Amino acid sequence: MCGIVGYIGTKNCIPILIEGLKRLEYRGYDSAGIGVIKNGLCRVIKQKGKVVELENEVEKQNTSSTFGIAHTRWATHGVPNQINAHPHTDTEEKLFLVHNGIIENYTVLKKRLELDSYEFYSETDTEILVKLIESFLNKGNVLCKAVQYALNEVKGTYGIAVGYTDEPDKLIVAKKGSPLVIGIGDGENFIASDVNALIAHTSRVVYLEDGEMAEVYRDRFEAKTIEDEEIQKEIQEVTLALDEISKGDYDHFMLKEIMEQPLSVKNSFRGRLLFEEGSSKLGGLQGYEERIARSKRILICACGTSWHAALVGEYMIEQFAGIPTEVEYASEFRYRNPIVTPDDTCIFISQSGETADTLAAMKEAKRRGALVLGICNVVGSSIARESEAGVYIHAGPEIGVASTKAFTSQLVVLALITILIARRRQLSLIDGQEIIRELDLIPAKIEQILELNDEIKAIANEFTGAKNFLYLGRGYNFPVALEGALKLKEISYIHAEGYPAAEMKHGPIALIDDNMPSVFITPQDSVYDKVVSNIEEIKARSGKIIAIANMDDEKIGSLVEYTIRIPETIRMLMPILTSIPLQLLAYHIAVKKGLNVDQPRNLAKSVTVE
Ligand code: F6R
Repeated sequence: MCGIVGYIGTKNCIPILIEGLKRLEYRGYDSAGIGVIKNGLCRVIKQKGKVVELENEVEKQNTSSTFGIAHTRWATHGVPNQINAHPHTDTEEKLFLVHNGIIENYTVLKKRLELDSYEFYSETDTEILVKLIESFLNKGNVLCKAVQYALNEVKGTYGIAVGYTDEPDKLIVAKKGSPLVIGIGDGENFIASDVNALIAHTSRVVYLEDGEMAEVYRDRFEAKTIEDEEIQKEIQEVTLALDEISKGDYDHFMLKEIMEQPLSVKNSFRGRLLFEEGSSKLGGLQGYEERIARSKRILICACGTSWHAALVGEYMIEQFAGIPTEVEYASEFRYRNPIVTPDDTCIFISQSGETADTLAAMKEAKRRGALVLGICNVVGSSIARESEAGVYIHAGPEIGVASTKAFTSQLVVLALITILIARRRQLSLIDGQEIIRELDLIPAKIEQILELNDEIKAIANEFTGAKNFLYLGRGYNFPVALEGALKLKEISYIHAEGYPAAEMKHGPIALIDDNMPSVFITPQDSVYDKVVSNIEEIKARSGKIIAIANMDDEKIGSLVEYTIRIPETIRMLMPILTSIPLQLLAYHIAVKKGLNVDQPRNLAKSVTVE
């Protein structure tokens, strides 16, 4: 949700900023802009559309500088156009600022500034912040003080970077609710909303916490709170490699990430399987195992795809650990009066670790005394840092906006947590060992599924004209139906709904005709016969059916038009396998429709606003 990058040093910052923006483009891609100081003057270039449009414009204008900040936007206040794009500037165009987040009290601040004769050119909340800082500069403050005074009046969230022609030796960054990281170079420093934009230049980073800011000079930085207390920040090493955030030979990040799943899933359980004990070892939960196992209730909160993973987790934990488990949308949890006690364990799942709703829900659960755990992909992210204990999924960077490999890795980690608790409660050694053995076999089974890519593509080509889709599954595969439908709608813009298969006859069946395809997830488990009855009901109404079925299912072929056959595993792990053909189906339908699967319209990867 908006990407920020900045540079102060001795090199020309333009290529550094443009390249950084491209690496952040998955965070927002409706407009982009760059602001530099050149010969003591502020120069801002902004463009509607993708970073490449900005790049072309910057090339035309042939500018260079050793100081600059840049932004790729996901619109919140004001339509995506050139005027609303960042950086925003003060009245005299000496001060320029990029912002990720939302200024909630912007109308109040704007009225006050208007009374003081400040004028506004854009529809953004960010411009109010620049003018607010300007108002404090006009009262004789230095930049750092002016930023502090302004931020102390702001309600909402921000990750900001500010440049000022009167103080060209520093750029200022501050954070509350939106990520901000400083990259430490040699005689040069970088700032960004995400380490992805920095790692081509440095692996040494400093993460700002909420309420913190820094004055970043060419050769040093000074960190403080926005209340002006000095603080010491630790420099950390990031281990991300550049090729992990490149597309390689793939047409899209999404396809690369789907294809990476044998490895990403393996990385999620690497070193964590205890074959003999029939259990798991999770360093991030060390010392908390007993408390989790004694919980009276487990609550899992998340959004989107991570919420679907949470639903699978609910089935796992209740079946194997026997602890009542509830799943809640983080956005709902934070605004009601949830019953949470110190006997509860609350698990928060987030790929990015920055989702505003999930982070806020986590803080609420913490306030109420529950044990708060995080399951995140992005190392050092806000949710990871805010949690008392937690587990990284280690799926590697996920750049495609539609989540794929993070989902399967989240399922692996939920299985590992389940077995860790369950073995302390009711799960037998034999059953524990079986789960661990099956988990170990999953990557090879994913390889087999990925070999079906061409077959799935051919099926996808038959359905590019569909306007609606139903996804149906039961038990562990009901959340997979939801996830399959979400994947299709977000990248192909085809309306799709997921349902528990049996629920279909309570309403959605009215939609069925030969224009409404259904995808059934129907492995041969305990509810197989019941799902087959649901298939018959759709068939009787001329609905076309794609089935995800097991290899040796002899019945299914005669019932449905298309069958995608996948290997078997135990029920709790089946969603790791059944979700993969659905990712490929959505991908190929969207590609065939000529859509941008990595950057679908209106979406952004990391939703740092409410
Ligand atoms: C779907 C998707 C979103 C995210 C959701 C939560 O493909 O990517 O639904 O799953 O925005 O994001 P995280 O997991 O980063 O909290």
